Amino acid sequence: MDRIIVQGGEVLNGQVHTSGSKNSALPLLFATLLCDGKFIFKNIPDLKDIDSTRELLGHLGAIAARDGDKYIVSVKDVRDHRAPYDLVRKMRAGILCLGPLLARYGEAIVSLPGGCAIGTRPIDKHLDAMKVLGAELDIQDGYVHAKVKKLRGGNIVFDGVTVGGTENVIMAAVLAEGETIIENAAKEPEVTDLVDLLNKMGAKIQGRTTSILKIQGVEKLCPAEHTVIPDRIEAGTLLIAGAITGGEVTVTNCVPQHLEALTFKMRESGFNISSEADTITVHRCKGWNGTDVTTAPFPGFATDLQAQFMALMTQAEGTSIITESIFENRFMHVQELNRLNANIAHRTQVAVVRGRKGGLKGAPVMATDLRASASLILAGLVAEGETEVARVYHLDRGYERLEKKLESLGAKVSRIRG
Ligand code: UD1
Repeated sequence: MDRIIVQGGEVLNGQVHTSGSKNSALPLLFATLLCDGKFIFKNIPDLKDIDSTRELLGHLGAIAARDGDKYIVSVKDVRDHRAPYDLVRKMRAGILCLGPLLARYGEAIVSLPGGCAIGTRPIDKHLDAMKVLGAELDIQDGYVHAKVKKLRGGNIVFDGVTVGGTENVIMAAVLAEGETIIENAAKEPEVTDLVDLLNKMGAKIQGRTTSILKIQGVEKLCPAEHTVIPDRIEAGTLLIAGAITGGEVTVTNCVPQHLEALTFKMRESGFNISSEADTITVHRCKGWNGTDVTTAPFPGFATDLQAQFMALMTQAEGTSIITESIFENRFMHVQELNRLNANIAHRTQVAVVRGRKGGLKGAPVMATDLRASASLILAGLVAEGETEVARVYHLDRGYERLEKKLESLGAKVSRIRG
């Protein structure tokens, strides 16, 4: 298993490019199941989760392959409607084939994704919404068996914001008979990206970027070309990398509006941040203050940036209270950050970070989930000596060559294969 070694103490400077969004690319790729033909995508990141999606699409009968800077998906005669455990287990987003398969073929057998390090992450809201659209569901041997003659529109009110649930039901409703209204829909930019692709394919979805989506079902969709939006979580991670070392880093090819909750909190903490159309720069900073953060659905502070922001706050003057409101068990990085000599206490969903500039000391640590791995690397950038992060396969699921990007900014980061 690969490990990443960070030699702390370098100040990061320069420009770094944002890759395509993982969380957009996954639903976009599953949306190809909604019609036959050839899709051309641009800006699909080169990640483990994309490989897992290609494998799952391949299993169902859709062929996906990279061709230079394009990513082509060819769909014809999807005959298998079963997403097996082995493939969904690797990546929860595999559940996103439920909506498209059900809408197009009237049948889907999809493995329950099971638990996950950051919480139980059930799919009850996905399933309840499919029932509103007329699907008959049955759970057998760890699989959801979904069947319907023809989905019909309905009114769905999510009792909590769910990104994947919103995406799944949108993909089901676009081919349903009649109108579907989704209330309390997730407004994450990745949901909007999906809506944009589907509308290009001939879907009739109104309300993009809002929490009420109106979907008029259509008979048929056709393939389309689409460029994936930049990855706001990667962009935020790179911005924090510059910030934590006190350096000046410009993150290019990002959408500053997608990162406003982060940049607002960073400014509150004392950073000088400027942005242009598609770049954000964090300027040199000698010291910053503790800042409280509560994660929330978009446009609130992203849970996927909580661990990285916590690393930044270990270097602040004063105390920060970080509240995780989305997932019940997303503080596993606390213990690992404390192994690096951070001073963080946590109870259930609240962590108290007692900041002190300097003070972190390199140590062997273990990545526990995707974003936690990034936070340990960020902490390693300012820890005295060497930090060795094990289990970086978590990182590879969602960051495109992060160590190379950090290296290009002047960090001493390397990967040990094995
Ligand atoms: C997506 C993102 C993930 C991000 C999360 C929250 C992808 C591939 N992943 O995950 O990176 O951290 O949004 O922004 O896009 N819930 C239920 N029942 C359900 C569905 C969700 O109780 O049926 C709960 C979850 O356990 C969680 C909360 O709702 O506590 C939000 O989850 P959700 O928005 O669905 O996350 P994902 O789509 O899985």
